[in-house]
Amino acid sequence: MKAFVAGATGYTGQEVVKALVAAGVEVVAHIRPDSTKLAEWTEKFRSWGAKADSTPWVEDEIQKAISVHKPDLVFGLIGTTRARKKTSTDPENETYMSVDYGLTAMLLRAAEAQNPAPGFVYLSSYGVGPGSPSAYIQARHKLEEELRASALDFLIIRPAVITGDRDESRLGEEIAGVLGDVMLKGLKAVGARKIHDKYASLDAQTLGRGMVACALESELGRRDVDAAEIREKGQ
Ligand SMILES: NC(=O)c1ccc[n+]([C@@H]2O[C@H](COP(=O)([O-])OP(=O)(O)OC[C@H]3O[C@@H](n4cnc5c(N)ncnc54)[C@H](OP(=O)(O)O)[C@@H]3O)[C@@H](O)[C@H]2O)c1
Repeated sequence: MKAFVAGATGYTGQEVVKALVAAGVEVVAHIRPDSTKLAEWTEKFRSWGAKADSTPWVEDEIQKAISVHKPDLVFGLIGTTRARKKTSTDPENETYMSVDYGLTAMLLRAAEAQNPAPGFVYLSSYGVGPGSPSAYIQARHKLEEELRASALDFLIIRPAVITGDRDESRLGEEIAGVLGDVMLKGLKAVGARKIHDKYASLDAQTLGRGMVACALESELGRRDVDAAEIREKGQ
């Protein structure tokens, strides 16, 4: 079993790489070539037992990389943030539509071009659906629709807030996670455990392990996975 992980340097991506290696999967961890920490990440992934790949985000190049590595599973864990856009040297191309949708869609097309085609594991988000005014949700909905329209096997993972000890501070997410968890713990106390397990925050370790456990069990199929299932399998 071999996996190609896009977004491997991210908070969740790192945990997915570790969980895959721990499960005995051969891992290709993608690093964007313009990363200021390319050498550091390459060495880190090597020390974790994964192989680093820094193919540029160009359609033909990504397609070639997927055809050379021939993964059984492709993980799409890429996403930008408003903070990234503010500090980007190319803010026009640091939007949810160009990064979260655009790069993941490129990866999806590369996966579709393979025979046999790999399964696609997409880290989406709670609340994704049609008609949302949010650019973040619109980008994710567009990608989900294309994934569903493809012939690929897929998992679409929909966590609420991802919490934990990040290298960078994300105050908004931390506050949303804490407030949400307080309310949901109250619900759990009165017996609404299912609601708690579906909507409470997830730390990256549980999320990474849960995603990998779902991806490795028997047939991948074509299905949505909620946070309750991830929580149970990632403990
Ligand atoms: N945080 C939450 O509460 C939450 C909740 C639900 C869903 N999600 C989604 O889950 C995914 C993973 O979340 P996370 O918190 O683990 O993300 P993260 O730590 O911010 O990592 C994002 C990944 O995307 C890459 N990336 C960002 N902008 C890029 C660009 N312009 N070109 C190429 N690569 C780029 C980053 O690469 P570099 O390391 O090189 O920057 C990194 O590997 C994201 O798509 C996020 O939107 C997040």
